[in-house]
Amino acid sequence: MTSKCKSKVCNPPEASSGLQVTPEIVAGCQELILTDEQIQTYMTTFLDNIQRGLKKETHPTAIVKCFPTYVQDLPDGTESGKFLALDLGGSNFRVLLIELDGGNCQMQSKIFVISQDLMVGPGTSLFDFIAQCLAEFSIEHGVAAETLPLGFTFSFPVMQKGLTVGILERWTKGFSCDGVVGNDVAQMLKDAIARRGDVNIDVCAVLNDTTGTLMSCAWKNRNTRIGLIVGTGTNGCYVEKQSEAELFDEPDMGSGNVIINLEWGAFGDDGALDFCRVKYDVDIDKRTINPGKQLHEKMISGMYMGELVRLAAERFTKEGYMFEGKGSEKLFTPDSFETKFVSEIESDPPGTYVNIKKICDGLDLINATEQDFVNLRFLCECISKRAAHLVSAGLIVLMRKIGEKKVAVGIDGTVYKYHPHFHNLMVEKIKQLIEPDYEFELILSEDGSGRGAALVAAVAARVKSKPT
Ligand code: BGC
Repeated sequence: MTSKCKSKVCNPPEASSGLQVTPEIVAGCQELILTDEQIQTYMTTFLDNIQRGLKKETHPTAIVKCFPTYVQDLPDGTESGKFLALDLGGSNFRVLLIELDGGNCQMQSKIFVISQDLMVGPGTSLFDFIAQCLAEFSIEHGVAAETLPLGFTFSFPVMQKGLTVGILERWTKGFSCDGVVGNDVAQMLKDAIARRGDVNIDVCAVLNDTTGTLMSCAWKNRNTRIGLIVGTGTNGCYVEKQSEAELFDEPDMGSGNVIINLEWGAFGDDGALDFCRVKYDVDIDKRTINPGKQLHEKMISGMYMGELVRLAAERFTKEGYMFEGKGSEKLFTPDSFETKFVSEIESDPPGTYVNIKKICDGLDLINATEQDFVNLRFLCECISKRAAHLVSAGLIVLMRKIGEKKVAVGIDGTVYKYHPHFHNLMVEKIKQLIEPDYEFELILSEDGSGRGAALVAAVAARVKSKPT
């Protein structure tokens, strides 16, 4: 192993004003810094979880599900045609019209907000809303009379029974609509469209956002083998040999590969991550609508990152080390510290406090001192670094499993995209831990959920029409 930093204590940054993070806070945050030994344990356990997910015998009880996506071929740049895509995976829902033309891609899209009521209401209401948005969009863009191929990016744990059949295993990210778990989401979409009767569609593919991201990146970069999302939720997918994917009983169509949707958010749901979870992780989990589930995701993704920082700030305030030991009502209110604050605070150049001051003012911490700013920034850094290191460890396992010495990773999601250091933290950690003969690139793959959906549909059409 190439690791150099064996010591657990990583020196906290010194602000240019000369202010140091309060020693008690540094000490209290050591539990958030993953040691090399912990990362090794994580990697061994994660690989074991992947093997269990892939094997027929162990799959039923596996925690990391490793669902075959039925996507076997990567794009070759010749894909063309006009496609519709739907993208459901968070509180925003998007409809897209995409035109691919040999290396060019034109996209038009519209965002619709999914209300809290819809997120936890009856499944049929959610699908009726989706169908309504699709109809509105198709009319606005003059394609309502055409029957366009549609890719449905549905970013939740789905067991695929084919490219166009996806059974929802469970909801994540704050959704819990009745009557969807155990059902085919493509069929529910078709039923909702049929109830309206004013648009025609041809559902060509159901896919996960990680698959879309991988495909979208592979369209331009032929070394792409991994797709990663670090956004509201987190997950990864990778190109696996068909022979390893025991659940995938299809005839070998040529590539001998299949993309595996890991659903790595669930890693740790059997206690496997308890060795590195801390009290904030336990507290957050208890308050969610899916306690005990998606424990890995809850340590990493944007839906939880801000709240993890807030819980740490609350603790150190109550212990008397921050905000005069008083804090504010807002600081002690769950979810008041948004994940975007973490990115904003870490975007302040060291020794400057423009964003952090605004954020503290907004939280009624008007008497916050420079020392408080230095401490709060440190908490943000500890939480975001831990997330970046966990994700990096996961990627190393995948790179070794794939075994190719040159790999590109397509990545999307708000945390990766907007956090000023997430990318660099990942590059640094992966370089430190992976064997030196691996060359890797982490590539921002924007709009995988849209363009990727069109590419999956286009590649499927190309392969189907290939003479046998
Ligand atoms: C879902 C995954 C998805 C990820 C990122 C998770 O909560 O289970 O299917 O890929 O979020 O959107």
